[in-house]
Amino acid sequence: MRIYGGFHMTRSLSKLFQNPAPNIMSDIGKNAALMTDVINLSIGDPDMTTPAPILNAAEEALAAGKTHYTASDGDPEYLESIINFYQKKFNLTYAKENVRATVGAGHATFLAFGAILNPDDEVIIFAPYFSPYEVQIEAHHGKVVVVNCTAENNFQPTKADIAAAITDKTKAILVNTPNNPTGAVYDQETLQALADLAKEHDIYLLADEVYWPFVYGDNDFVPLEALAPEHTLVTGSLSKVFAMTGFRIGYLIGPADVVAAAGLLNEGIDFSAPSVSQAAGAYGLQHIDEITPALKAQFGERLEYVATELNKLPWLNILPVAGSIYLFADISATGMDDIKFSNYLLEQAGVLVIPGQAFGDAGKGYIRIAVTQDMATLEKAVQAFSKLSF
Ligand SMILES: Cc1ncc(COP(=O)(O)O)c(C=O)c1O
Repeated sequence: MRIYGGFHMTRSLSKLFQNPAPNIMSDIGKNAALMTDVINLSIGDPDMTTPAPILNAAEEALAAGKTHYTASDGDPEYLESIINFYQKKFNLTYAKENVRATVGAGHATFLAFGAILNPDDEVIIFAPYFSPYEVQIEAHHGKVVVVNCTAENNFQPTKADIAAAITDKTKAILVNTPNNPTGAVYDQETLQALADLAKEHDIYLLADEVYWPFVYGDNDFVPLEALAPEHTLVTGSLSKVFAMTGFRIGYLIGPADVVAAAGLLNEGIDFSAPSVSQAAGAYGLQHIDEITPALKAQFGERLEYVATELNKLPWLNILPVAGSIYLFADISATGMDDIKFSNYLLEQAGVLVIPGQAFGDAGKGYIRIAVTQDMATLEKAVQAFSKLSF
């Protein structure tokens, strides 16, 4: 078989892709694929099947002929379900012009960056971070400015660090809470600092809210758009909220001019989000109080169990559970770096996790554990961890 493309042709690729950085996640995944009996705690894809009522809604939509393009900004029923949900849940009022259906939150952030960035505009992201942000910003010729967060501050950025990173070129700050990969849930003080800085410097806040229901203990999800409505673009997703990642459905909310610009960009990408997924998503949002609490409880139980058990090991440390579906464990006491440790864990214990540096240098010395397996599997994983010693 001849695979087209090779070194002689790299001059024809965008500079962005001529010398791609090593893809740590994919390298480890390839190793895992060669092994049998691997406990996979690496993926951010809930293991649960999408709740039956949502599947029924999807089947009904298909039977009713929802197999066509929808309006480019979204099926009116889906848009209305998002608007009603934000009104009811967060007391935030949006018009149809403020909302757009997207193919997941990843697509929403891509459109948002495309709508606001000019070449060399800077976007501040907080490390450790969900790695696709970087490539999305660069694909729109923006510049990534990284502000590190530390365990000492519960992986939240400090106001001083954010302020120090703002320049005349800062266009936006990306805020992801509850956070992937750290599990941090930003408190009111941090969110207020972000809102104040955004207003003072007139910069956008991109609020990635894909894990919003998954907050635990004393932590609350506070929507950033409530604190800085004129400056915030929300990128939302139903992937995790309803365990429906494969439906590829999300949304963008923001000022009408930004949402309209995102629409112009999207006309040249995929025009509209999948119609059946919008119908299923609308059903989910209309019935969210009957569906999501059970998912939240399941993830909460798993996070608490794994954190408590693994914290008994002298060579590993996890902060108290706050939110998301991930634990970010400090493994520096093993004496190994996170890539070496992850490979060792895979080979010796058959457990697949993601090394922290896949989320930027600030993740060095950590691993990300996704609790996207059932309790019985997590118990096996804990036993496998416990057999290791350093
Ligand atoms: C922080 C964060 N943002 C966005 C996404 C993308 O979600 P979607 O499936 O809606 O594209 C993910 C997926 O894991 C994520 O963790």
